[in-house]
Amino acid sequence: MPDYSLLVRQLTSLLDTRDPLVNTSQTCALIMQEVPELNWVGFYIHREPNMLALGPFQGKPACHPIPFDKGVCGAAARTRQSQRIDDVDAIADHIACDAASKAELVIPIITGDRLWGVLDLDSPTSGRFSEADQAGIESLVATFVHRTDLHDLARTE
Ligand code: SME
Repeated sequence: MPDYSLLVRQLTSLLDTRDPLVNTSQTCALIMQEVPELNWVGFYIHREPNMLALGPFQGKPACHPIPFDKGVCGAAARTRQSQRIDDVDAIADHIACDAASKAELVIPIITGDRLWGVLDLDSPTSGRFSEADQAGIESLVATFVHRTDLHDLARTE
């Protein structure tokens, strides 16, 4: 497992602007580089009511847009709870952007009382994400939120 406290320190020094486009790009690049066994990492941004728009990512071209009532990302947006899925094939409304993806971890990004977006990680390995991975990625999302002005990309206030 990666040393998530080290990754938090690396991300903190990497995010030296408060720009959301720069910071989303840097965050998914760092995660893709440092967390093993991922095939996709990226942001979906809440720019219109009850919809997620594809944001900066690393990996293959992905689905866009995703309504709140669809898929694992939609569930994270709707419930504002992290979604940790061992086997996406067992999830009825999972949106398959890439048939290689087997495990998925989606973390909601909240600022104040507003859902700004979600961070989505996919892995080709079933059961890839442990509770400790979830806690680690949540700590990276908290660092991203702390270091970024999150109003710029959102159309929805
Ligand atoms: N599988 C996701 C869709 C996004 S892609 O994995 C990049 C879902 O079910 O929400």
